Amino acid sequence: MKIGIVGLGVVGLATGVVLAEQGHKIIGVDIDQNKVKGLECKRSPIYEPGLQEMLERYFHNFTFTTDYGLLFNTDLVFITVSTPTIDGKIYLGYVFDVAKRLRDILKRNDTIVVIKSTVVPGTARKVKEIVKNDVVSNPEFLREGSAILDTKNPDRIMIGSENKEAGDLVENLWKFTNAPVIRTTWEEAEMIKYAANSFLAVKISFINEIANVCEKLKDCDVTVIAKAIGMDERISPYFLNAGIGWGGSCLPKDTQAIVSFARDLGEELKIVEAAIRVNNERIKRVVSMLKGFIKEGNVCVLGVAFKPNTDDTRESVALKLIKTLKSEGYKVVAYDPKAITNEARMVGLDECIRIADVVIIATEWDEFKGLEEKLRGKYVIDGRRILDPSKMEKEKFKAVGLGE
Ligand code: UDX
Repeated sequence: MKIGIVGLGVVGLATGVVLAEQGHKIIGVDIDQNKVKGLECKRSPIYEPGLQEMLERYFHNFTFTTDYGLLFNTDLVFITVSTPTIDGKIYLGYVFDVAKRLRDILKRNDTIVVIKSTVVPGTARKVKEIVKNDVVSNPEFLREGSAILDTKNPDRIMIGSENKEAGDLVENLWKFTNAPVIRTTWEEAEMIKYAANSFLAVKISFINEIANVCEKLKDCDVTVIAKAIGMDERISPYFLNAGIGWGGSCLPKDTQAIVSFARDLGEELKIVEAAIRVNNERIKRVVSMLKGFIKEGNVCVLGVAFKPNTDDTRESVALKLIKTLKSEGYKVVAYDPKAITNEARMVGLDECIRIADVVIIATEWDEFKGLEEKLRGKYVIDGRRILDPSKMEKEKFKAVGLGE
C-alpha cells in the first residue's frame, strides 16, 4: 500500500520503518525541514534502538517531505503528530491542522485517515467531520527505547472505527504482528489508551508509596515486596519498579489530560490525581536523602534521559532533579550514554564519579549496573534500584525503598 505518515516523532518513525519492512511505500511528512533533510540523508533524528539501521535498510520504500501534497493518492494516512498538554489540558490543534490539510489534499474518497496520536475521546469523530473520509482510531502503545520491537510485537491492536471496511483494512495492515485485535468504537479506542497509561502511572506511584514506607522500616526492601506481589498473576510483575518517579512524553501529559477531560465532564479521577501527586513528590524525597549526606558540594547525576535506551529528556525526572539540586545550591555534573542537557555540565562517566561527593543514579541504563566497585568511597543514592546494596558501604549508601 501507499501509506502517508504525518508527524515523524518516535511513533511516526517506528510505524514507518516497520511498515516499510513489510514492503509498503511510505510518505513521511513533517513540518520540521531540518528533520526531513536529515531523514532524506538516512539520518534518524532520534536515538531509538534499531531505528537507524531499519531506516537505512528500507530507505528505498521511503519518501520524506514537508509537502502534504504528496499524500494526495495514498491508501492510508496515519496521523502521528504530538498532542501536548498545555495548561493541564490536551492541545489538539496539531491533529486538527493535519485533518484540515488532508481535507484539502486527498483526492481519493477511499483514503483512510488513521489516528495514532493519543487523543481524548471524541477526537476521531471531530476529525471525521473535517476530512469526510473514513477515520480509524488505532492508538499506539509502544514504549520509547523499545519502539520498533513493540510496534512489531504489540500486546494488542486496537481498531476503533465506524465503518467496518475501513477498520478491516487497518486490521489487515497489522495482521503480520499476530497480535490479538480488539474492534471498538472510536471513543472506546481513545479511552483505552488513556486508561492504559493512567493505570501504568498509578501502578508505579503505588509501589513508590510502598517504597516510602519501606524506607522507614528496619530490614525492608521494596524490591522484595514488588517481586513477591508481582507473582500474583492478578497484579503482574511489570511496572512495579520503585524509583524517583515516572516521566517521558506520555505518562505525565496523558494523566493530566484525562484528569482535566474527566473534570470537564463533571467527573473526578481521584486515583489518577493521587498518582500525579505522589509522582510530583519523588524529587523532594531524593533531595532529603541527599541532605542526609551533604548540605553542599558536588553531585553527579547518572542518567538524564527519562528512561534507558533513549536520548529523550522530555519530562525527565532526572532533569527536574538536576534543576532542583541547582536551586538548592549544589554543583551538578551529569553523565548519560545518549542524552544531553544544558542544565548541568556533561562529563564522562569516570569524570562524573571522580568529581562527585555524592552520586545519584537517576536513570537505569545498563551501563550503570555493576558500578558498585567504582563508586567505593563516594556517597551514593540509588534512585532506580540497580545497585546491589550488599556490595555498598552501609553508611554511605541510600536507595529508594530500602529500609535502614
Ligand atoms: C509509555 C507507555 O508504557 C506506552 O505504552 C505508551 O504508548 C507511551 O507511554 P514510555 O513513555 O515510552 O511509554 O515509557 P515507559 O516505559 O512507560 O516509562 C515511563 C516512565 O515510568 C519512565 O520515566 C520510567 O522510568 C518510569 N517507570 C516505568 C518506573 O518508574 N517504574 C516502572 O516500573 C516502569
